[in-house]
Amino acid sequence: MLAEIILNIMEIKDLRMRVMEIDDIKPCLDFVNSAFEKNMLTKGPVQEENDINSAPWSWYGLPEIWFSVVEFNSRVIAYCIVRRVGGVAHLHSIVVEPGSQGKGIGAFIMERYPKEHCGNKSLPCILTLHSYTTTDYNHEFYLKYGFKLYVDNDEKIFLELNEWISNCNKHHDWPLTNKKILFFKIL
Ligand SMILES: CC(C)(COP(=O)(O)OP(=O)(O)OC[C@H]1O[C@@H](n2cnc3c(N)ncnc32)[C@H](O)[C@@H]1OP(=O)(O)O)[C@@H](O)C(=O)NCCC(=O)NCCS
Repeated sequence: MLAEIILNIMEIKDLRMRVMEIDDIKPCLDFVNSAFEKNMLTKGPVQEENDINSAPWSWYGLPEIWFSVVEFNSRVIAYCIVRRVGGVAHLHSIVVEPGSQGKGIGAFIMERYPKEHCGNKSLPCILTLHSYTTTDYNHEFYLKYGFKLYVDNDEKIFLELNEWISNCNKHHDWPLTNKKILFFKIL
């Protein structure tokens, strides 16, 4: 809630979420490492490539991947990357530049990204994201925005999960290993 109050001071009207243009990539790459290093004052491991030739940047231009930025006074201060698989919108990345963290920008993205840039696709019916048992500093953030931590057999209750699980299966990434965990939110 505090974040929302600070965001009001920062003036929500000066914030804009839009599709990432090719010229926005460089400013985003410039703050990847420092964003993870600060991470709301909880120093965490850097979990994103800052090499333009590696994923997720090498996915730029693929129709199923949405790249978005948030601008404040026409300056790029955050980005998010979402993979769309059928009714699933998988949040691959959410990164806020270090100087703008703790001011409600992450909240602004979490509330908007499922509806942004759907193009002619229907709205997603489930949001998913991966995290790690070792990066519990961001679990609190996801739980705050209504995500649930997957536990065995949740797909028997929340049938929407099956689409993401079969996608992971196709890429030999299910069951999840190497401390990877799944959060999801049914819309
Ligand atoms: C995690 C991140 C996206 C959050 O964005 P942010 O703009 O700093 O967060 P906000 O200011 O919108 O905070 C929203 C709420 O979540 C809480 N929160 C944010 N990050 C948190 C964290 N790491 N741990 C615990 N709570 C957190 C805030 O306290 C706030 O709660 P409040 O409304 O009760 O005050 C941002 O800090 C970041 O980019 N970190 C580095 C990259 C990263 O770790 N990304 C996630 C993994 S890919």
